[in-house]
Amino acid sequence: MFWTMKKKLYRMQHQVMKVASAVLPFPIPVLLTGPGSVGKLAENIRIRGLKHVMIVTDKILMGLHLPDGLLKSLTENNIKYTIYDKVQPNPTIQNVEDGRTLYKQKKCDSLIGFGGGSPIDCAKIIGARLSNPYLSVRRMKGLFRVILPTPPLFCVPTTAGTGSETTVAAVISDPDTHEKFAISDLKLIPKIAVLDPELMVGLPPHITSTTGMDALTHAVEAYIGLNGNKFTDENAENATRLIFENLEKAYKKGTDLTARNNMALASFYGGSAFTRAYVGYVHAIAHTLGGMYGVPHGLANAVILPHVLEFCRKEAEKKLAQLAIAGGIGEKGESDKELSKRFIEKVKSMNKKMKIPAYIKELREEDIPHIAGKALDEAHPDYPVPRIMTQEECEALIRKLLP
Ligand SMILES: NC(=O)c1ccc[n+]([C@@H]2O[C@H](COP(=O)([O-])OP(=O)(O)OC[C@H]3O[C@@H](n4cnc5c(N)ncnc54)[C@H](O)[C@@H]3O)[C@@H](O)[C@H]2O)c1
Ligand SMILES: [Fe+2]
Repeated sequence: MFWTMKKKLYRMQHQVMKVASAVLPFPIPVLLTGPGSVGKLAENIRIRGLKHVMIVTDKILMGLHLPDGLLKSLTENNIKYTIYDKVQPNPTIQNVEDGRTLYKQKKCDSLIGFGGGSPIDCAKIIGARLSNPYLSVRRMKGLFRVILPTPPLFCVPTTAGTGSETTVAAVISDPDTHEKFAISDLKLIPKIAVLDPELMVGLPPHITSTTGMDALTHAVEAYIGLNGNKFTDENAENATRLIFENLEKAYKKGTDLTARNNMALASFYGGSAFTRAYVGYVHAIAHTLGGMYGVPHGLANAVILPHVLEFCRKEAEKKLAQLAIAGGIGEKGESDKELSKRFIEKVKSMNKKMKIPAYIKELREEDIPHIAGKALDEAHPDYPVPRIMTQEECEALIRKLLP
């Protein structure tokens, strides 16, 4: 009885959120796309009258000299830069604070998040802290807690996965509590997003595959959730089709610029879908595994996705069938049941072909009740999932991920 009431309350909140996300003025970043597009960013920053940008990135990307072209064009445009390159995968609150201190010391006036989701999210939260010094990172956890707008923020993704370059979200870890949580606010949407496939050609196969599966998870969770609309459905369908057609190509041959370009677009479309229609249990569990064990986000999503889809297959049957058709793996006229099952098999076979394991190697049986509790705390009531899970169902699902 109590559970039935609770589920009703969740559904009422989903209805309210659906209306809110349809009317909220989501800004869309200006897009610079195609091979070499990163070279156009500096000029766009100069036009805005900005003089000193802080680039937030990581040491690996610096070691690969990936930002070199951007740095050169900044200099050519008389824009000074300061580099903060200590962002860790699953960035931490400390990364944010260190970046913020450097920005203030160097008197920067704008931010570029350059890298995968980790540097981009870190740049977003550095921005939020800079303009809201009285709000701690923790205080901004959740929806719409960033009061004042960030300094101008530009994003250059070097992975095709998170879609962070267009989303309201920034995900951060607190190593003290082993918690990983999202800050979501319209003010975190960047002014400009650069989708340059040339920056992605050196992305190693295992990161290509897992980040690509993150993008697919965004599209799927947004599509089967109850808060989608025409815009998010179209974006999710486009993302799914591009991922089915291009991810394995990019995985096998990293230098395939067409596949990389299509994956960069897919990631952006997936982000555009979930930022308005939310994610679901795959992300809730993945965030918890990221916070507890540092499991990379895309890897966790890839492993969890088929299990969550099996859990809600009946409730999401129609949408999964439509997505199968949009993704090019089914025809109109086939049964929804058949198509929805094929969709799940497709996800499993992509994982297998790209050597993504079917388990989480760090997972320990004794942690499962805690992980399930944390994941459900994240998902309820915010995520408009097609089928609501109990603690026991969540534990049973997570148990399937044991090595
Ligand atoms: N803000 C959002 O909307 C959103 C959405 C989904 C996920 N996330 C978050 O994003 C983070 C994950 O981001 P990610 O999956 O992009 O990974 P990441 O940024 O952590 O990068 C993973 C690794 O790949 C390397 N790398 C990145 N680009 C490279 C390139 N072009 N060549 C070679 N190596 C490269 C990085 O140096 C790093 O070692 C997580 O914290 C996740 O929770 C955010
Ligand atoms: Fe994600």
